[in-house]
Amino acid sequence: MNESLTQKIRNNFDQIALHDEQGWNHNNHYHHFLLKQLPKKCNTVLDIGCGTGEFYRLLAKGVNQVIALDLSPNMIKVAKEHSTQYTNIDFQVADVLQWDFPVAQFDAIVSIATVHHLSLENLLPNLKVALKPGGRLVILDLLQNENMQDIFSDFVAVPLNWLFEISRNKHIQSTPEAAAAMKEHIRTDKYLTLSQARRIYTSTLGKAQVRKHLFWRYSIVWENSVAASQIN
Ligand SMILES: C[S@@+](CC[C@H](N)C(=O)[O-])C[C@H]1O[C@@H](n2cnc3c(N)ncnc32)[C@H](O)[C@@H]1O
Repeated sequence: MNESLTQKIRNNFDQIALHDEQGWNHNNHYHHFLLKQLPKKCNTVLDIGCGTGEFYRLLAKGVNQVIALDLSPNMIKVAKEHSTQYTNIDFQVADVLQWDFPVAQFDAIVSIATVHHLSLENLLPNLKVALKPGGRLVILDLLQNENMQDIFSDFVAVPLNWLFEISRNKHIQSTPEAAAAMKEHIRTDKYLTLSQARRIYTSTLGKAQVRKHLFWRYSIVWENSVAASQIN
């Protein structure tokens, strides 16, 4: 990833963090699904691109330690303000592509709506190394439509999205600044199709569960089956 693109992403999210909005969205709709994918014994979790932290605060209720990592200093600043009652979250401002991954450290690595900003080819080998044997990688990211099936699924997703927006976010007014920051952010975003995601994850990790979700998301769940004796 070149330096100026990383800088642009950091600046963008620094702006978005200033207009942090609570409420229903296409990511937190899947939080409970994602929690169910974690291993039963789950002490240490890394959240990549943690943002302002809705998900890792759920995580922090059930695990010993969460490392919450984000490129944007403002995201981490807001995250800390929302998380004062949690003593088991270690916040780090860092570019995950430059991060020094520890070996066999995490029971789970999670990432929500972040990996489309990253080179998966560079990232995935590090995630593999950083997971304990039996540890799980759980990713949710944005999805690009690719076929008629996706278009049919939009016939359900669009009205349902509208219903959720009305019923759950009716009191939430997006400020013009928040809308502008988000518009600028998505202008250059690129997402994988389901078949591209399948190809990339399975070629690097081997057998992984890659699922399509209704609200323009895919998830992957991969378990590290490497025996502890094989890790140097
Ligand atoms: C769309 S937000 C998602 C935030 C959070 N996971 C959520 O579900 O609300 C994407 C986050 O990824 C972070 N990010 C982007 N590139 C990153 C990188 N190279 N290293 C670490 N974090 C990164 C951004 O700063 C941003 O907070």
